[in-house]
Amino acid sequence: MKKIIIAIDGFSSCGKSTMAKDLAREIGYIYIDSGAMYRAVTLYCMENGLFDAENRIREEELKEQMNHIQIAFRLGEKGRPRTLLNGKDVEEQIRTMEVSSRVSPVAALGFVRTAMVRLQQEMGKDKGIVMDGRDIGTAVFPEAELKIFVTASAEIRAQRRYEELLAKGEKASFEEILHNVEERDRIDQSRAVSPLRKADDALLLDNSHMTIAEQKEWLLTQYQNAVNHA
Ligand code: CDP
Repeated sequence: MKKIIIAIDGFSSCGKSTMAKDLAREIGYIYIDSGAMYRAVTLYCMENGLFDAENRIREEELKEQMNHIQIAFRLGEKGRPRTLLNGKDVEEQIRTMEVSSRVSPVAALGFVRTAMVRLQQEMGKDKGIVMDGRDIGTAVFPEAELKIFVTASAEIRAQRRYEELLAKGEKASFEEILHNVEERDRIDQSRAVSPLRKADDALLLDNSHMTIAEQKEWLLTQYQNAVNHA
């Protein structure tokens, strides 16, 4: 069957990765979480003193060090993708609230985006890939055969993220998460380089009131339609 590129974009914490991962497993495609890449760059900044006392990014230093940042993925237990930063597994570390609260300004830097987009395009050159993020359908793969734009209300998204963190045994405050979700949406939508927006040809999915199973079925149907028309 013809292989296509599937781009899944949308607001923070709306379950993009869960749906993208499930779909990729089901159809035997590679899954790439582009957000994990921006999170890994953020972790690198935290570990290497690239945030100043006011939490501003030391841009010039980061720019000089971009060549030292290597990001890759490998499959871990149960086929779950793990993010590697310079060879080290950082999958858990990049999901903390601290990284979440610092990632959007890092992801707004043009030189960071150029480097990540190049890597993402390389990963998708043979197609057969599902990638999720903010700019996959608009900037990374504008020619993707299937584009989905996912959204849900901010409260519902914060609630999901809250339950996810609790399930992992992390301390979490709903208010703090809601604030983080809204703040990231604001920065992601208003940045100058590749702001978060729905591509004109993306299908809109509001999953506020959908179960994971319903969402999965909807996505599989869209995939089949896209393959039939590719
Ligand atoms: O999982 P969640 O939706 O909360 O976030 P994520 O996908 O892990 O992405 C973390 C952050 O990285 C986002 O809030 C964006 O600021 C940035 N990002 C981006 O700018 N472009 C992408 N393609 C993916 C993520």
